[in-house]
Amino acid sequence: MILADHPYRKLVLVCTNNREPGINCCAGRGAVELFEPLKAAVKAQFTDVRVVRSSCLNNCDTGISVVIMPDNLWLGEVTLDDIPELLAQLA
Ligand code: FES
Repeated sequence: MILADHPYRKLVLVCTNNREPGINCCAGRGAVELFEPLKAAVKAQFTDVRVVRSSCLNNCDTGISVVIMPDNLWLGEVTLDDIPELLAQLA
């Protein structure tokens, strides 16, 4: 194992997990539709923040789940309207 080089100050995990019908999940609440606009907004403003899709973050009942690391900030019920606030968290 090696310590990998990277240019990132923060990592944003967006749960886009899909579960079977009738069970709460982030994909069912629009996570796939949130991911690209959020990633584009972050990329336009920060070169040192990476936004990635994640599997289940175990907060399915309060999705869409987003985690900002290394801040250990766990967010729920995230929507497109929250993108400006998320950007402020990444400054
Ligand atoms: S499906 Fe997103 S937290 Fe579980």
